[in-house]
Amino acid sequence: MHEDRRFPPPSGLAAEANVTAAAYADAASDRIAFWEEQARRLDWGRPWTNALEWEPPFARWFEGGLLNVAVNAVDRHVDAGHGDQVAIHWEGEPGDTRTITYAQLKDEVCKAANALVELGVRAGDRVMIYLPMIPEAVFAMLACARLGAPHSVVFGGFSAEALRNRIEDARARVLITADGGFRRGRPNALKPAADEAAEGTGIERVLVVRRTGETVPFTEGRDVWWHDLVDRQSAAHTPDYFDAEQPLFILYTSGTTAKPKGILHTSGGYLTQAAYTHHAVFDLKPDTDVYWCAADIGWVTGHTYIVYGPLANRATQVMYEGTPDTPHRGRFWEIIQKYGVTLLYTAPTVIRTFMKWGEDVPAKYDLSSLRLLGSVGEPINPEAWIWYRDTIGGGRTPVVDTWWQTETGAIMISPLPGVTAAKPGSAQVALPGIAADVVDGDGVPVPDGGGGYLVLTEPWPSMLRGIWGDPERYADTYWSRFAGQGFYFAGDGAKKDGDGDLWLLGRVDDVMNVSGHRISTTEVESALVSNPQVAEAAVVGATDPTTGQGIVAFVILRGGAADKGPELAAELRDHVAREIGPIAKPRQILVVPELPKTRSGKIMRRLLRDVAENRSLGDVTTLQDSSVMDLISAKLPTSK
Ligand code: WTA
Repeated sequence: MHEDRRFPPPSGLAAEANVTAAAYADAASDRIAFWEEQARRLDWGRPWTNALEWEPPFARWFEGGLLNVAVNAVDRHVDAGHGDQVAIHWEGEPGDTRTITYAQLKDEVCKAANALVELGVRAGDRVMIYLPMIPEAVFAMLACARLGAPHSVVFGGFSAEALRNRIEDARARVLITADGGFRRGRPNALKPAADEAAEGTGIERVLVVRRTGETVPFTEGRDVWWHDLVDRQSAAHTPDYFDAEQPLFILYTSGTTAKPKGILHTSGGYLTQAAYTHHAVFDLKPDTDVYWCAADIGWVTGHTYIVYGPLANRATQVMYEGTPDTPHRGRFWEIIQKYGVTLLYTAPTVIRTFMKWGEDVPAKYDLSSLRLLGSVGEPINPEAWIWYRDTIGGGRTPVVDTWWQTETGAIMISPLPGVTAAKPGSAQVALPGIAADVVDGDGVPVPDGGGGYLVLTEPWPSMLRGIWGDPERYADTYWSRFAGQGFYFAGDGAKKDGDGDLWLLGRVDDVMNVSGHRISTTEVESALVSNPQVAEAAVVGATDPTTGQGIVAFVILRGGAADKGPELAAELRDHVAREIGPIAKPRQILVVPELPKTRSGKIMRRLLRDVAENRSLGDVTTLQDSSVMDLISAKLPTSK
């Protein structure tokens, strides 16, 4: 936590920065007026009458205002004469490419919107999207936005079972998917999983993009090819204007229980903060920058910083389908060189992987176009921060470490690249207009140098509006911990250093962060116990040098099930991949005779984490039976 290195903004960037230190003062003098000012960056069909209606924990921003999110992301740029500007440089994993201008994007979005209307989609209907990283994913999301039909994108790496649960929770009637996508050099089928998920649910129509060209099952009457339905539509579509609080999307994320939460975001406030933060934190100059957010649209980072923020700001951006090591480990740097990328946004786990691969890989490419680097998803350790800045940024570029969540909708804590003297490893300060603090267990702010829980102390425009269909869970999950103070509890531990800068320390609840992806321990546990061989399971996130955390599972087998060693571990890992998705596969599975429990029967994950991280055990006195830990430790060397 002690870090003396400081990196002031490059003077050229500071002199031309989109946002200067004055923004903090503006926002501090009148926070609501500051956000109204930012909302005016958008085109409104009718202005709002009330900037914020706050009935804790329910907020309504820009009430009375009408807008169309897709018009703000696309049409208005075309109308302003930027139709020929490239919106998306798309790079397929096998090396095929597509260049999409704003004028073409407008046509594609309008055609897709007309197609969805033909499938019966109306404002308010939920549309599921289960697609690889192809341009149709962006078209589909914007087409839904254009119609006021909230989308729910499910990451293509999630299993059929995970997709089915989300379809049912959202009660969606239309699903947009693809035959598959390319991943690690091979076609990776999606359609069979989409079929399995849709079976027996309320899905009536399935719109299928042809990407890989592989033969896939096709249900006549229900399924329709994108190229058959969308391509024949008119490129003219007259948009309706919707209330600022019209639902824009539901994005499922892991909580502390086995059932993922459908995080609900709405339109006006979300787009305001998405656009403002993208403008402020990435300093985007739409005429000259080439921006690349290397996330997947299945996560909130892809929603806010591939689709809504950058497009609202008229960015030219790169979108990449595949993995960083296909067909070779220089793929990212090759793409940056090819398109002259100036702004790059990625995750610490990716940066640490590049560090492992060695400096000679990026050294083969010209990365001199880069002028700013961003990090998101988990704490970035100072070594990785410095490596990113020096090796990728040539020692010139600011690095912005951005803290936020699916729930916050947009960046909340981050340096400003033209203002803040950056400190490796710290996300530093709340953005202008955002109020964050670190409090102790009683909700009292800790002094500089102290640690505790990260809270957000005032409502913000892109805050979640609730958990889909479950207002009680919303109030309980985020607002009950510090109900007395009315603070939003983020679930993260944090510290304030001697300068008052914020350091994020990871989750304090039962949520793991694996390669920047949120996975709940209970979700993996319930997947494990759904296997007939498993009686009980306890899952912990153990520190991992590359992925941040790795999933370690302790399982008790059912009577009669044999510990088949590595074969059993492989079976259970595959089982979890089928239930949730490959990202939730445990790194390690240990078969144990007992689990450590308190007298009240609660599993003591803290002790299991000690075991998983090869530490000497902490306090075992609250255990029901302390000899359990000896039994578990005895299992360790052989059962990897
Ligand atoms: C973690 C991703 C430290 C944090 C945008 C948070 C971070 C969770 C950072 C949200 C960061 C995200 N430094 N930790 N810069 N960014 N996190 O919903 O634990 O997938 O609560 O949103 O990721 O993950 P989510």
